[in-house]
Amino acid sequence: MKSLALITLLCAATSASALPFADGNPQAGQKLFEQYQCNRCHAAMLGGDGNSIFTRADRKVHNATELITQMETCSGAIGAKLTPQEKQHLGAYLNRYYQLK
Ligand code: HEC
Repeated sequence: MKSLALITLLCAATSASALPFADGNPQAGQKLFEQYQCNRCHAAMLGGDGNSIFTRADRKVHNATELITQMETCSGAIGAKLTPQEKQHLGAYLNRYYQLK
């Protein structure tokens, strides 16, 4: 009984400290971001380099699931289908703005 409680505790601790997009690489994400010209619409909407879309006061994304969904919508708009690995990379890169934990 004691060990079961310990295992439960350990599992809870591990999942709480696991970063979202742990399988992604921010540098690879930045490359993809440039390759897909992700900021082309964001820049047209908001001016500047477009990155302010990720830090605007009424931003849409508040967690990793919302970030993935938004990336799918955006890439779909340009006819691209992101692989699960690409989403991990892009998420790891964009988390510099979102600071999701
Ligand atoms: C065809 C134009 C277009 C392209 C290309 C595009 N986006 Fe977007 N993106 C948008 C629009 C429009 C919004 C705002 C959606 C809203 O406000 O509901 C947005 C919003 C976002 C947001 C949410 C910002 C917030 O409010 O938190 C993320 C994240 C995002 N885009 C990621 C990407 C990524 C990653 C790519 C490249 C794969 C990309 N976008 C390419 C049009 C585009």
